Amino acid sequence: MCGIIGYTGSENVKDVLLDALELLEYRGYDSAGIAVKDETSHVTNVYKCAGRVSDLRAICDSKKILSACGIGHTRWATHGGVTDQNAHPHQQGKVTLVHNGIIENYRELIADYDLQEILHSETDSEVVVHMMDYYYKKEKNLQKALERVITRIEGSYALCIVSTEHPDEVVVAKKASPLVIGRTEDASVAASDIPALLAYTKDVYFLDDLEMAVLKKDSITFYNKDGKEITKEMTTIPYDMEAAQKNGFDTYMLKEINEQPHVIQETLRGRIFEHSIVLDELKDVDFNKFNKVYYVACGTAYHAGLCGASILERATRLPVLTQVASEFRYNDPIIDEKTLCIFVSQSGETADTLAALKLANEKGCTTIAVTNVLGSTISREAQHTLYTCAGPEIAVASTKAYTTQLVLLTLIALYIADKRGDTVDTDLMEQLNNLPEYVSKLIDDEAIFENYAKTLKDKHDCYFIGRSLDYASVLEGALKLKEVSYVHADAYIAGELKHGPIALIEPGTVVIAVATQPHVAAKTISNIQETIARGAEVILFTVEGQEVSGVENIYYLPNINPLLQSVLVAIPLQLIAYHTACIKGCDVDKPRNLAKSVTVE
Ligand code: F6R
Repeated sequence: MCGIIGYTGSENVKDVLLDALELLEYRGYDSAGIAVKDETSHVTNVYKCAGRVSDLRAICDSKKILSACGIGHTRWATHGGVTDQNAHPHQQGKVTLVHNGIIENYRELIADYDLQEILHSETDSEVVVHMMDYYYKKEKNLQKALERVITRIEGSYALCIVSTEHPDEVVVAKKASPLVIGRTEDASVAASDIPALLAYTKDVYFLDDLEMAVLKKDSITFYNKDGKEITKEMTTIPYDMEAAQKNGFDTYMLKEINEQPHVIQETLRGRIFEHSIVLDELKDVDFNKFNKVYYVACGTAYHAGLCGASILERATRLPVLTQVASEFRYNDPIIDEKTLCIFVSQSGETADTLAALKLANEKGCTTIAVTNVLGSTISREAQHTLYTCAGPEIAVASTKAYTTQLVLLTLIALYIADKRGDTVDTDLMEQLNNLPEYVSKLIDDEAIFENYAKTLKDKHDCYFIGRSLDYASVLEGALKLKEVSYVHADAYIAGELKHGPIALIEPGTVVIAVATQPHVAAKTISNIQETIARGAEVILFTVEGQEVSGVENIYYLPNINPLLQSVLVAIPLQLIAYHTACIKGCDVDKPRNLAKSVTVE
């Protein structure tokens, strides 16, 4: 996830772009850059650096920049490290551009356009500027060149493009990445998100996928993918700047819950190709040499690790263990060069996970990091690193990072199974692609989950039960509830209830049960009956077609591959936690005593 901006108008564009990039910085903050047209020479000057927008501002402040047209970018790296060279804008010939998204077929394009020897950066985006330059030389028209480029590029993109030959023109296009366009009396502006436009206008246009627009100081012209001029309806934004930074949501947590269909899609992008998993980051690993696998992480990432471990163990029949990092590092684990260790961390900075990773490296293990932050310490310490594409997660409680971890860990499990010569479940592979749609439908049912949250309003305790993979889901559900709403929540393996925890059940106790795994669902459902007999109020999540009787609150999840149910059930459990916290008036985004990145032991 990156933030982009394009402006053409009457104000000094340097300030316009830098102010907007500051507002877009939540979308990415490892590098920043702007390209501005010099008013006299018409040359497009690029200023960019690895670092924050404030670092870029310091560079720009030392230059005399006079221009009223330009583009800007703040980066959340996905392809290529955090370097000045990989920062946007990218320039080739007369064309300069910024890009937000992932070009899936960039390797193929490098070959097709003979770019191997001439790329300056490691980014997928630079390929697009070379293609633009190629077609611009033929068409002499930016929009026509862009029209040809978008027929060739696959993946997600929002693009803002300028050329030295069209001094006050910015051309834009989008597919599966956001782009909003605004018009003021004397300027046209496009940006990844509404906050960046609100300082200028509340009147905006939303581009649909594959549409383009030509922005000039006094006009905006819209085009469909065939280059035919179209008209777009204007929308007036009904909220102010503060609400806009949360995209109209009341909190970052709710915004991030709602981003899950998109970020899951981004994490899957380019990873499944004709019934095989593409994880080039792992191509040098000999997976046949391992006799044991460890997943190591903390908190929510540990719960994702439990799911990943279970999927890997089933697929490969290798012994797989999952450990909390703070235990792993002090428990003298039996690990050596035949051990594969997978470390999961959203921030990539968690002290215990980092220490565990260093220990595994010292012991000669092969180490893989699954993280969300490019350039983070864990990503650098691990021998191999894969990134979730969740974008910056701002709410302390992890939501979109968790579900993207689940997705990436599933891909890794299938990849390893394939490389070891095990049979890979192609049905599971196909169903992964449907996850964004299912997640989106679950989010549509938010009102149902908000209603469940009302049951918890005055409760001190809540118990979560599940078996097998559902146990990892209920651990995560209980963690989410306790951390944001301060309701005491515990998760139990449903089969263990009668060995002690059932003593806690009394009339009015809330039990949230998850029964999505066909081989044990009926067993969990009998355990529910034992709690109902003792007066529990039960909320059950199971799958369509599962027989249940005597439970008042049942939510049926779509009957997809059981190994993917942990992604689906995460959504209602997040929304129950969220709404319980809201009803109780808690500070949802910053729960007491918690920090987003735990860099102490
Ligand atoms: C809970 C939560 C934490 C983190 C844990 C590990 O919502 O966010 O439990 O999962 O602190 O953090 P990372 O994934 O950054 O290593």
